[in-house]
Amino acid sequence: MRQNSENKKLRISDDIREPIRFIKNNLKKDLVGAEIGVYLGNHAKQMLDYLPLKKLYLIDDWVNNVVKLENETVTRRSTSFAYSRALTTLKPYSDSIEIIKEESIIAVQQIEDKSLDFVYIDGCHNCDSVFSDIYIWEKKVKRNGVLCGHDYKWHGVRNGIDIYLKFFPRKLNSYNSVRGDWWWVVQ
Ligand SMILES: C[S@@+](CC[C@H](N)C(=O)[O-])C[C@H]1O[C@@H](n2cnc3c(N)ncnc32)[C@H](O)[C@@H]1O
Repeated sequence: MRQNSENKKLRISDDIREPIRFIKNNLKKDLVGAEIGVYLGNHAKQMLDYLPLKKLYLIDDWVNNVVKLENETVTRRSTSFAYSRALTTLKPYSDSIEIIKEESIIAVQQIEDKSLDFVYIDGCHNCDSVFSDIYIWEKKVKRNGVLCGHDYKWHGVRNGIDIYLKFFPRKLNSYNSVRGDWWWVVQ
């Protein structure tokens, strides 16, 4: 019985995404962060359970509920389903979250420059959108804060990051495993 619960704990912590683990290990308490691309709210819930968060901005228009690739568009579950699932999942955290149901480029205008400890980018995955999300959200992150995201191995994501780093060079960290692949940079 005891072993089962220990295994369960291990599984849960194993599931924490690498940049989020980095944030927990390197940043202090009362964190203010943002997730771009919330979808069903599962990763937002995981961050809320794992990180010492004061506030988490959750940005998704729940309209472009697609991940655009170079040559194809992957349509996910219906936007209304995803939105209502996210609201239900995140209801217990209502004191610590602010949901901004807008396109990333509009939502960013509500956030003060250098006010965030981290931003997790997981919105539209094509090259232009990834570049644009990094460019507009990077200004919102404090010095020594973390800019990070999902699906580093996706062609569009990687190209968007590479182009950004050509203009604004800095050390890129990435992590790839069977569980997925992520990237992060420290401001
Ligand atoms: C890959 S899913 C996010 C998954 C979530 N981060 C997780 O791990 O559970 C991508 C989400 O980004 C949203 N999205 C795509 N383009 C967007 C944009 N330009 N502005 C805001 N949200 C966008 C979609 O509606 C979709 O819900």
